[in-house]
Amino acid sequence: MRRAFLVALLIAAACSVMIAAPSENAKYIGIDKCKMCHSDVHSGWQKVGHARAFDLLTNVEQDKNPECLPCHTTGYGKGGFTDAEATPGLKAVTCEACHGPGSEHNGDATKIVRDLPATVCAGCHLKLNIHNIGE
Ligand code: HEC
Ligand code: HEC
Ligand code: HEC
Ligand code: HEC
Repeated sequence: MRRAFLVALLIAAACSVMIAAPSENAKYIGIDKCKMCHSDVHSGWQKVGHARAFDLLTNVEQDKNPECLPCHTTGYGKGGFTDAEATPGLKAVTCEACHGPGSEHNGDATKIVRDLPATVCAGCHLKLNIHNIGE
């Protein structure tokens, strides 16, 4: 009985070590760095709306509005995007908006988030009421 419990505990401990996560010191490095090693994923990303999220703001001249930037850029207010000139690699919803800051990863799978918590999408997609029920 006690032995089974200990084994379960060890397995749990091993699993928690395996969960990929960058440290708190990880920094945003911009999409060009990710593209260097993940050109296939990058070309897929370019085809969906996330790639043009910043253009949506530019089109309506809201690309400096701090109320819009958290969801239409990457890491705004969290050490990421500041403005289009200083941080061009963090315009739009780039890789690090979902996978987290990537400065420690460099190919090390334990230093990047793969299995995203559900809160990542919900953080920007507050309204999941796609059928507009109740509006
Ligand atoms: C940093 C904010 C942010 C995060 C995080 C985010 N999105 Fe988005 N998403 C947006 C914005 C802004 C748009 C609008 C882009 C457009 O219409 O071109 C969008 C558009 C989309 C679209 C429409 C795509 C298209 O081609 O028109 C889908 C589907 C989507 N998001 C799903 C997701 C899912 C699933 C996740 C989590 C895995 C996620 N998003 C995470 C901000 C975000
Ligand atoms: C809480 C996150 C969030 C904030 C803040 C936000 N957006 Fe968005 N925006 C989204 C998401 C998600 C989408 C795509 C899905 C949708 O249309 O609901 C989107 C879509 C858009 C679109 C294209 C679709 C449309 O409705 O025309 C425009 C334009 C846009 N946003 C402009 C803005 C502007 C301007 C601001 C600031 C005043 C802003 N957004 C603030 C998340 C956000
Ligand atoms: C809107 C959120 C979002 C964005 C933006 C995004 N990803 Fe992902 N990514 C995911 C999700 C969700 C998965 C699926 C995880 C799984 O399959 O277990 C994933 C899986 C992956 C994987 C592992 C599986 C595979 O297909 O090889 C890699 C590598 C990856 N993403 C790299 C990137 C890169 C590089 C970018 C930028 C060019 C990017 N992602 C942009 C959400 C995102
Ligand atoms: C120097 C090359 C390199 C760079 C730069 C790089 N990656 Fe990776 N990435 C890899 C390799 C190689 C793997 C596969 C590791 C493995 O399977 O052991 C990987 C795996 C991943 C995975 C999947 C992890 C998993 O558990 O399977 C994600 C997500 C990812 N990268 C995202 C990114 C993002 C986001 C960026 C930019 C911030 C980025 N990568 C930059 C080489 C790179």
